[in-house]
Amino acid sequence: MTPVTQQLPPGPRMPRLVQTIGWITRTGPFLERCHARYGDVFSVRIAQEGTWVMLADPEHVRQVFTGDPKVFHAGEANAILRPVLGDNSVLLLDEQPHLAQRKLLLPPFHGERMQRYVDVMREVAEREIDGWPQGEPLELWPRMQAVTLEVIMRAVFGMQEGERLDRLREALRTSLDWATAPTQMAALALLGPERVSRLRIFREQFTGVDELIYDEIRARRAEEDLGERDDIMSLLLQARHEDGSPMSDEELRDELMTLLTAGHETTATALAWGIERLVRHPDKLERLREEAEAGGDEYVDAVAKETLRLRPVIPIVVRRLTEPVEIGGYTIPAGVKLAPCIYLMHRHASVYDPDPTAFRPERFLEQPAGTYTWIPFGGGIRRCIGASFAVVEMKTVLSAIARSVDLRAVQPESEHVVRRAITLTPSRGAQVVAQRRVPARPRDEQAVAA
Ligand code: HEM
Repeated sequence: MTPVTQQLPPGPRMPRLVQTIGWITRTGPFLERCHARYGDVFSVRIAQEGTWVMLADPEHVRQVFTGDPKVFHAGEANAILRPVLGDNSVLLLDEQPHLAQRKLLLPPFHGERMQRYVDVMREVAEREIDGWPQGEPLELWPRMQAVTLEVIMRAVFGMQEGERLDRLREALRTSLDWATAPTQMAALALLGPERVSRLRIFREQFTGVDELIYDEIRARRAEEDLGERDDIMSLLLQARHEDGSPMSDEELRDELMTLLTAGHETTATALAWGIERLVRHPDKLERLREEAEAGGDEYVDAVAKETLRLRPVIPIVVRRLTEPVEIGGYTIPAGVKLAPCIYLMHRHASVYDPDPTAFRPERFLEQPAGTYTWIPFGGGIRRCIGASFAVVEMKTVLSAIARSVDLRAVQPESEHVVRRAITLTPSRGAQVVAQRRVPARPRDEQAVAA
């Protein structure tokens, strides 16, 4: 057994500010350099965050994901999102209050239920693809944002086409774009979430969205067919706390904002990366297309998993310790944050042999994704609630694109990984040239004939 020491694991000796800049501006290379030098357990110091102990050994990640939620706090570590998500958000809570919200949210997101949303996902994707310019460069990342926002509006908020949906979509886009712009992110990092949420400009920015969401909640509560609806808002309106009480309007608003914020840009970015990788591997794109045309979904599942492995949207998850914890031969003191490192785990040579940097979906046909080695959605009691939703959406949208258009990259060079707010995105926005493949679908032919 490794003897336990009282010190923090080693890590770069550069000043905190330099480490913070490295982490923010060159996340991947920064992590890889630290890993090459210090191994699977190392410490980094980040402004406003204190010390993070990065973990890239599956056994250490297992220890964190199965650890006592009283000791491993995740909500506290997400405090930066409070101004947008609100106090009741499942992402920001810990221990009993977290469990209570999570219990309400989990059933509507159960894996088997997700098939109900496939039709909406396909319809939204096909409509989007129909609007693409032919034979001209096109940035797919914003297009995928439009798709995932629309899917959330329909499947999660349960909204139908019309003026209410248009108004909410518009207000959300504006507020979210504003909140994730570099100046606002810098303000959050410098002032901290508490002070930022007290700033009038921040509150005003979300008033319009809040009003529209509250209107929607009230209108839905009053609807007669609530019991028959299967969108997630309607299911949450029928959910009950352990004492039998329904969720309050404020709880619902905060959770809806959480689902939207956690699920919209993340899934769009994963989709953009999927296409960015596929256009640089035409044989894999062709295999996906053949399967999509035949109505299968095994290979596309492997493509989704491989995309999330090689280009994880979120590089780490974080748990703040409320008590000292022994891990990897160190006793980590309370207050320090442990960070299972998604990025490094997914490139670990001992796990993803022989070439961890190759895009090879086939690896997931050969062996299943490991609970502590494939962790794009984190793990344990904090694992992403929308993981099945996101994978089903990725599979549906990627198949729809492969069936409908021929795609090629605008430039042969791969796109770099660049950070936008907390996600890792493709540097040129996943640029492609698309050309419609199949003769118009029957629906389109009918429209033309009419
Ligand atoms: C590819 C897309 C997505 C990625 C990469 C992703 C990733 C993550 C990660 C890394 C976490 C933190 C897990 C941890 O701390 O262990 C998380 C939490 C969460 N995600 Fe996702 N997510 C995605 C899509 C979605 C979607 C579509 C939804 C809902 C519509 C969603 C809702 C949530 C919620 C509610 C949590 C908080 C869970 C908790 O604290 O108990 N996510 N996600």
